Amino acid sequence: MSGNASAGADKAGQNGWGENVTVDINEGIAWITLNRPEKRNAVNPGIVYEMIAVLDALEDDPRAEVLVITGAGEAFSAGQDLKEYFRDMEKAPPMERERLYRSNAAWQWRRMMYYPKPTIAMVNGWCFGGAFQVLIGCDLAICSDDAEFGLSEINWGIIPAGIVTKSVSMVMSQRDAMYYIMTGETFKGERAKELGLVNKSVPASELRAETTKLANVLRNKNPHVLRGAKTAYHHVRNMSWDSALEYLMAKSDSTTMRDPERGAKIGMGQFLDDKTYKPGLEAYDRKR
Ligand code: COA
Repeated sequence: MSGNASAGADKAGQNGWGENVTVDINEGIAWITLNRPEKRNAVNPGIVYEMIAVLDALEDDPRAEVLVITGAGEAFSAGQDLKEYFRDMEKAPPMERERLYRSNAAWQWRRMMYYPKPTIAMVNGWCFGGAFQVLIGCDLAICSDDAEFGLSEINWGIIPAGIVTKSVSMVMSQRDAMYYIMTGETFKGERAKELGLVNKSVPASELRAETTKLANVLRNKNPHVLRGAKTAYHHVRNMSWDSALEYLMAKSDSTTMRDPERGAKIGMGQFLDDKTYKPGLEAYDRKR
């Protein structure tokens, strides 16, 4: 699957991809690859606008049930592109810079957080600065043991901006977040697991197989209910307990009522009447 590439901010709006981002859909999994290996997949305007086009296109593509984001070559992503995203934008018209930065936050944060399909970050190598937004924006994450992470901004004289510091504060403890923000020290996959940045760290040779296995677990669940569950999680984090209870009761009812599969009814029937499965151990039979 490929589209017309949009290489930079000047070509944005063509709704294409294929130059800076590639997509390969195979057995329900959309493998999205940040594809600038010679620049360690640093996020340039091309990646920003192509990712927006990809996310829009895959939203209602039934072949894409789970999205995996990874990087070509030896990097996941070296963060924002220091030349194209920062230095060049200093010289660009203010509205162009404003539009680019807003668009970047839009896909890495809000779009990913509330994306209607499950997303997994497959961190295959270097992961720096702005790449933390992509990583944390995904629902789940698996990395290779030798992947190297760093909040390197402090090393070149800026703070972790975009929405990086906020993202990090949502998944890491205050002590850990402050330590890595203030020292810029790098760490490997197993430490990323300890810090809560990834769900699993595995040997590089097993990375793709482990990611496929996790994606298939998600593919086996009711997609409508998965969507409701992740949306609810993000909303309740900022609510009081009272509001969260009210919201979750209403969200639960609306999710069940609007479920095209009528999953709750089928699941209950298979457990209580047919005695064909155990909800504690597996998903109900979706008859796919
Ligand atoms: N922005 C722009 N260009 C970048 C980049 C970035 N974030 N990261 C790497 N590149 C470019 C390099 O300039 C180099 O380009 P060139 O071949 O035209 O000289 C190319 O990618 C390869 O980088 P190089 O440093 O030679 O690769 P390496 O494998 O030895 O080191 C890194 C990899 C990731 C450790 C190193 O490139 C690096 O420190 N990158 C910056 C990471 C960072 O601080 N990102 C935070 C940005 S918010």
